[in-house]
Amino acid sequence: TKPLRIGVAGLGTVGVGVVKILAARREFLAAAAGRSIDIVAVSARNKAKARGIDIGSARWEDDALKLATADDIDVVVELIGGAEGVARALVETALANGKHVVTANKALIAHHGIALAKLAENKGVALNYEAAVAGGIPIIKALREGLAANEIESVTGILNGTCNYILTEMETTGRDFADVLKDAQALGYAEADPSFDVGGIDAAHKLAILASLAFGREVDFGSVNIEGIEKITAADIKFAKEFGYKIKLLAIATKSDGGVEQRVHPALVAEGSPLAAVSGVFNAVAVRGDRVGLLVLEGRGAGEGPTASAVLSDLVDIARGLVMPPFIVPTSHLKAPAKAAEGGPESAYY
Ligand code: NDP
Ligand code: HSE
Repeated sequence: TKPLRIGVAGLGTVGVGVVKILAARREFLAAAAGRSIDIVAVSARNKAKARGIDIGSARWEDDALKLATADDIDVVVELIGGAEGVARALVETALANGKHVVTANKALIAHHGIALAKLAENKGVALNYEAAVAGGIPIIKALREGLAANEIESVTGILNGTCNYILTEMETTGRDFADVLKDAQALGYAEADPSFDVGGIDAAHKLAILASLAFGREVDFGSVNIEGIEKITAADIKFAKEFGYKIKLLAIATKSDGGVEQRVHPALVAEGSPLAAVSGVFNAVAVRGDRVGLLVLEGRGAGEGPTASAVLSDLVDIARGLVMPPFIVPTSHLKAPAKAAEGGPESAYY
């Protein structure tokens, strides 16, 4: 069988992780996928940067867009980031040229996912984005495939590793917000612009994607009510603790009368409840389906290894010949989302 030939655009935290797994697990992955997965080309901004990886015989492209048109590439792996610019052009061009795409880019999928999905479906290629939501947790496959028989009632999650890491460190060590954020950046958890993390935008991107899959409707980032954690102080965390709560950045999508409500905001979560126990870079997603009941997945939500693990799962699917529709076609009778209700203690959430 022919190898699956991939081009990797972006060699930062996630891209480096992907190159490392492919090198370290070559035989293992070939056995799992039924054929080898070969990197034939890579691209990043700065060729001279030391990255601690060996790209072997893969060629370097200064212009990432060349990966989208190269005859010897079957899959473009987009790990640059950003809803517009090079990342968007690369993904659109690759799909238009009949290449499969794997991406970790939640901003791109939240803003353009449905249009890109239509492009992919017209060309009969995959647009896989497991790594875009909740790092190593396979929540996209869970919602799209594993829970397909369910009517989903709600999706509640801790979807941003950087925020959860910051809130956990502030609570357990009393360290300063800005100081802990620097840590999260050094660990490779934060977005290129960390205001996307602490402002709740990244969690909202992810929630909009999950809500689309859960409720069979278009991705609607614009209607997510968003509040970040920038204003949370050490005193807030201390007072919450005195009353038996932890502060968590929650992302919640629920079915409401005739619509779907989507919101991201800091919330009081009762100590002793499962979400309160999710600490550090961990994420959790709780899905309530009418047949399965409550399902909870927890795991590392950011960082090199967990995110690259999700990217590789998408590549293995493609190597096996599995091309899933990127979204559940929006057949929904649901109307526009209702505005979120005022927040209160979130102890009711799972
Ligand atoms: P980084 O900032 O670490 O890496 C981005 C990479 O893109 C760098 O290698 C950079 O090159 C390269 N790049 C930037 N502009 C261009 C360009 N014009 N052409 C080619 N390459 C370019 O980001 P991450 O690896 O952290 O994130 C990548 C994607 O994965 C983003 O969409 C992010 O949201 C997503 N993601 C990240 C997670 C994480 O934990 N970090 C988790 C889940 C998703 P150079 O190195 O030369 O500067
Ligand atoms: N910046 C993101 C986070 C990366 O902290 O959760 C994972 O999507």
